Amino acid sequence: MISAGVTKYWSLTMFLLFIFFIKSLFLIEGKPQVPCLFFFGDSLFDNGNNNNLVTLAKVDYPPYGIDYPEGPTGRFCNGRNIPDFIAEYLDFEESVPPFANATEADYLTGVNYASGGGGILDYTNYFLGQRYDLKMQIEHHAYTVSQVERILGNAHKSKELLNKCMYISNIGNNDFLDYFLEPILSPATKLYTLDQYAGVLVQAYSKQLKILYSYGARKIAVFGTAPLGCIPQVLHKYQTDGKPCVEWINKDTQLFNTRLLSLVDQLNTNMPDAQFIFINYTAISYTDIIKFALSGFKVINIACCDSKSTTGLCYRDSTPCPDRAKFSFWDNYHPTEILNMAAAKRMYNASSPLDTYPMDLQQLALK
Ligand SMILES: *[C@@H]1O[C@H](CO)[C@@H](O)[C@H](O)[C@H]1NC(C)=O
Ligand SMILES: *[C@@H]1O[C@H](CO)[C@@H](O)[C@H](O)[C@H]1NC(C)=O
Ligand SMILES: *[C@@H]1O[C@H](CO)[C@@H](O)[C@H](O)[C@H]1NC(C)=O
Repeated sequence: MISAGVTKYWSLTMFLLFIFFIKSLFLIEGKPQVPCLFFFGDSLFDNGNNNNLVTLAKVDYPPYGIDYPEGPTGRFCNGRNIPDFIAEYLDFEESVPPFANATEADYLTGVNYASGGGGILDYTNYFLGQRYDLKMQIEHHAYTVSQVERILGNAHKSKELLNKCMYISNIGNNDFLDYFLEPILSPATKLYTLDQYAGVLVQAYSKQLKILYSYGARKIAVFGTAPLGCIPQVLHKYQTDGKPCVEWINKDTQLFNTRLLSLVDQLNTNMPDAQFIFINYTAISYTDIIKFALSGFKVINIACCDSKSTTGLCYRDSTPCPDRAKFSFWDNYHPTEILNMAAAKRMYNASSPLDTYPMDLQQLALK
């Protein structure tokens, strides 16, 4: 009797252990590579933060999101943007929600602070209306940090978690686009030469990155500028001399990118417990655009949707090109989903040491 009872007890225990083992296998497999993921940036990253702002930089209407399961969400794209793909490659089950819509649980797993029109400097794109510049995005993150501390109940646990998160920032494009496209409205063109401006921007960026570090960030990726000389809005204003892009614009923004790369080195030296990386977005995106052009019957210089000449955004309810996979640009500023996917892939798993420095996102997650 006793031995039968014991056997029964043991087989039940073994059975439960087996279930636990199987379950943990699945849990381990489905686990994101970092426990939390935060995004900062401009319209290339924004996924809904501008929807409730009074601004011209807002895309909560069709045809935006035509290839996105939930339709128009505020993403400046036909489908998914780079943060969506990065979250997927880092094994997150869902995209990171916009800070504007965050719930309590979201603060622990990450939010997206990016805002269309936002720049490193507060006055960038002031003429578009409301937008969150980098400083305001970092202030929003301070709020998140306070919520994480409150939820976890102590500062030590909070710091432990925040140290393990990944922080990805893509900002600076609008500061340059103002300079190139709106020289009359841009205060910067009156104040600085382009070289001085690049220095001012990197200095302001550096200050905000140090604040981010003080909030516990230790795995930080910063993007260089997009290949701004290739976007249709720029192609409408400047000559390309037979090339696919305005080369001097791509070259001039390198004044910023090389300084940002040096900043990454400097921050890594001064903060040895942190890992900063530089993502060469111009290199990644530019080669993808050219490859795309050479792959036949592809359109790289005209937007897929009918775009307003003023804001470069699609007209509300306009009918876009039927085959989005054949266009590199969705509207006059923003790449199509297919290009976002190609770029995000190379950031996650770099195909050349020039893509990401000194490591790619996959390696950053392991740090
Ligand atoms: C955010 O919340 C608003 C309502 O406050 C809602 O209309 C919108 O769909 C939400 N967006 C996302 C991306 O969840
Ligand atoms: C980005 O990559 C290009 C090659 O495509 C290279 O010429 C440039 O120096 C790189 N920029 C930085 C800042 O590393
Ligand atoms: C990274 O990309 C290379 C091709 O560039 C591929 O051979 C390799 O399997 C990829 N690694 C991972 C872990 O995805």
